[in-house]
Amino acid sequence: MAEPQAEQTTGTPAAAPAARPAAAGDGEAPAAAGADGSATVPAGTGAAPTAHVNGAGPADDRRPGATTRVPTVVVDGLHVVYRIHGAGTGHGNATAALRRLLLRQGSPNVHTVHAVRGVSFTTYRGEAIGIIGSNGSGKTTLLKAIAGLLPAERGRVYTDGQPSLLGVNAALMNDLTGATNVVLGCLAMGMSKEEVRERYQGIVDFSGINDKEDFLSLPMRTYSSGMAARLRFSIAAAKRHDVLMIDEALATGDRAFQKRSESRIRELRKEAGTVFLVSHNNNSIRDICDRVIWLERGELLMDGPTEDVVAAYEEHSGGK
Ligand SMILES: Nc1ncnc2c1ncn2[C@@H]1O[C@H](COP(=O)(O)OP(=O)(O)OP(=O)(O)O)[C@@H](O)[C@H]1O
Ligand SMILES: [Mg+2]
Repeated sequence: MAEPQAEQTTGTPAAAPAARPAAAGDGEAPAAAGADGSATVPAGTGAAPTAHVNGAGPADDRRPGATTRVPTVVVDGLHVVYRIHGAGTGHGNATAALRRLLLRQGSPNVHTVHAVRGVSFTTYRGEAIGIIGSNGSGKTTLLKAIAGLLPAERGRVYTDGQPSLLGVNAALMNDLTGATNVVLGCLAMGMSKEEVRERYQGIVDFSGINDKEDFLSLPMRTYSSGMAARLRFSIAAAKRHDVLMIDEALATGDRAFQKRSESRIRELRKEAGTVFLVSHNNNSIRDICDRVIWLERGELLMDGPTEDVVAAYEEHSGGK
């Protein structure tokens, strides 16, 4: 995988947060085995800066009062391309990749998927932004690029602090118990041992994992997907985040837990953070978000007040 270049950014939009390449190279391994066993690596040779023709790009910068708001994420002409090596041949494993590197051969059968196409928007402190769109429209890819887990092919992402991506695939260890995962998860978010001790019970209570039986002392692999998602959300929500991104995590919880997490998201917003929520549940989006971005085939179709965008989306998708 190409190493992101820590280049100096010029032309930073006014009042924009610190610039960084759209790839951190840590956290969730972006190289994943495809369904057919082919290895998939995100494309991109570090973030090539695009010209800041429109400054931060999106029109909402010019909304009244915009100057007083604090931008948290600026996505500027972002393109993300996946390259699937050995597509169709089943040879996309690490050995084949190493061979290609050593022999300096180009990769045969490279298939590219242009998942995000020239998306630009700016978000501000205190906003909760819904991301909607049909399956495969690029929602998860966009969040991963904002989190720095995927490099940009073109365009830039500027963020205020380190965004935290809470997704259905967030990294908890399946073979470790729920209890150990709570501790490790908190430490990984930068809490001290002291803080972990203080927050531990609150997290467990919030998750409701132990309400019926002592599941916390069992390995995570024995949890249902809903239980695992609840624990992941509870751990992530225990900390204040500058930018918290939630990818479908709420969808798997039951109704009571969904309600609890919605009110926690509202609190997180009040703590001056920005929350992104990807969901196929338009009611959750309506309840939580005040602004919605609609992606389709990797392009930004609409960005505006929740009701306008969700209504247009529902009409487009046959009145869900
Ligand atoms: N690891 C990957 N390797 C190759 N292509 C990928 C990979 N992940 C996603 N894609 C492709 O990128 C496009 C966008 O996928 P993405 O997962 O971002 O969509 P999504 O909007 O999150 O969909 P969903 O609603 O199903 O979660 C799709 O065409 C998908 O096939
Ligand atoms: Mg997704």
